[in-house]
Amino acid sequence: MTAQLQIEQNTHDTVRLNKPELVWNSNDGFSCLYHGDSLELMSSLPAESVDCIWTDPPYNLSNDGITCVAGRMVKVNKGEWDRSQGAELDHEFNKAWLSACYHLLKPTGTIWVTGTLHVYPSIGFAMQQLGFRILNDIIWEKPAPPPNLGCRCFTHSTELMLWATKARKGKERYTFNYEEMKAENGDKQMKNVWRMSAPSKDEKLYGKHPTQKPVNLIARCLRASTNSGDLVFDPFSGSSTTGVAALSLGRKFIGCEADAGHVELSIKRLDNLIPIELPTISKQGHLWKD
Ligand SMILES: C[S@@+](CC[C@H](N)C(=O)[O-])C[C@H]1O[C@@H](n2cnc3c(N)ncnc32)[C@H](O)[C@@H]1O
Repeated sequence: MTAQLQIEQNTHDTVRLNKPELVWNSNDGFSCLYHGDSLELMSSLPAESVDCIWTDPPYNLSNDGITCVAGRMVKVNKGEWDRSQGAELDHEFNKAWLSACYHLLKPTGTIWVTGTLHVYPSIGFAMQQLGFRILNDIIWEKPAPPPNLGCRCFTHSTELMLWATKARKGKERYTFNYEEMKAENGDKQMKNVWRMSAPSKDEKLYGKHPTQKPVNLIARCLRASTNSGDLVFDPFSGSSTTGVAALSLGRKFIGCEADAGHVELSIKRLDNLIPIELPTISKQGHLWKD
């Protein structure tokens, strides 16, 4: 990396937290997307109505740091929604939305939350404070991470997903499709390290979200923890990758997103689903989407 590299800033408009408005419905009427503040939406949805929550909340890492995207030096700013308000306020926010999720989940429900080191300590602590039982920490390893330009620490190449349940040990039984996961892993128990590529070009056909997740990553979580017809909710749906994965797998979906541009992109993706391919297994046992 040299000083000739252009410095670009990836900024988005400040997210205004509007009253949630229904902006999309599936043809069968079972799935929908709201535009607005998910905390407000969650307070209006019925308690214990959701089978599974899959969400990728703000990581609070947009603080003018530098990273490398496609060979260019860019500021890490994903949008105002991703700016830290300080450790205490960030934790209060995480506790508030996770508490609303707890209220919405069925007694057997499970929740998946993604994060980097900027947010998962708070998410994990809030989950314990609220009475969730953490089942796994899944490491998503990225085969081609951006280089670390500062060279003062290791290159970040992973994200973590905490998988937790409301189900009490020995009382309620949450869904884990163990045999399906084992079969997907060449008939060996699946480990908690998943090596998967970033979203492909096909997944960005209608535009892209600055923190878009691969459909295959979410699809595996949903194949593991839900069954056909189950309802999946995402309070920070972004470009609605969770919705694309859920609907492609025959699950129902409710999403909520505060930013109008991301909602527009979501609607295009939800109206034009692409089939999900099962990742192939390499000789090393790593799972790739080629
Ligand atoms: C990390 S991104 C999710 C990206 C998504 N997983 C995808 O694949 O496109 C988090 C999203 O939460 C939205 N957001 C932040 N605060 C919100 C709130 N209070 N209510 C609804 N959406 C919110 C942001 O606009 C952003 O698009």
